[in-house]
Amino acid sequence: MREITPRRIIEMKGKEKIVMVTAYDYPSALIADRAGMDIIFVGDSLGMVVYGYENTLNVSMEQMVFHTGAVARAVRKALVLADMPFGSYEVSVEEGVKNAIRLIQAGADAVKIEGGADHYELVKKLVRMGIPVMGHTGLTPQRYLRLGGYRLMGETEEEIEEILKDAKALEKAGAFAIVIEFTLSDVARLVTEEVSIPTIGIGSGPHVDGQVLVWHDLLGIYENTPPFVKKYADLGSMIQLALEEYRSDVKEGKFPGREHYWEFLDKDEFEKKKRAALQRMGEED
Ligand code: KIV
Repeated sequence: MREITPRRIIEMKGKEKIVMVTAYDYPSALIADRAGMDIIFVGDSLGMVVYGYENTLNVSMEQMVFHTGAVARAVRKALVLADMPFGSYEVSVEEGVKNAIRLIQAGADAVKIEGGADHYELVKKLVRMGIPVMGHTGLTPQRYLRLGGYRLMGETEEEIEEILKDAKALEKAGAFAIVIEFTLSDVARLVTEEVSIPTIGIGSGPHVDGQVLVWHDLLGIYENTPPFVKKYADLGSMIQLALEEYRSDVKEGKFPGREHYWEFLDKDEFEKKKRAALQRMGEED
């Protein structure tokens, strides 16, 4: 069992901010765990940032299982959370349960679903079975087509009501935390005050119990990021510079340098061995 459990996350509400980051592979998960993240999240955002899809709708269970396995093998301390991709839990509770089990068996400590009130029965069933669940309200990217793209949520009475209903339903069903994505900060604050479980915001301001960011966004792998992201590094440019230097080193014969290869110190010995090898090859022909 990893050090950070869902119970520990619940205890952090109102005492200590929760820090969550996405990771999709072994090396990034190792680094995230070493950096002291509370939750390492295999998000279906991998469809966009790792696979280059336009949205998250085509991410499969197979992809989620592979990436969850890679992350789980790296993480010792943080809670490993895996996303249920679009289509893996909407059709029936039974299918949702089966797919959640696959993610847990791949090494996740908990699963995340988008929405709340619509999935009350599924969340309740998973929690009863012993599978911790995080919900997700506000902007729910899996509803990209209905929403007409990615946009700020919580501006209308109807949206505020829907977000609050989702959060209350998740709390009642036994979810251990809720992601609130890209809402007005007043709405995120309202939800945070109205539920007893932690809220983890992304693009929803500071009045929440924790924050989550996508690995590629916060590290500056891509030039374009959502407007609420703070870039903590410019790794995209750093990686490009390193690759350009490698390229010119090879083109100019500067790499490999003398410290990167091994050769016979005694050239006579090499000549002898070379002649013997060539002779043996001639005999074989
Ligand atoms: O898939 C994802 O990365 C997410 C975060 C934006 C919370 O759902």
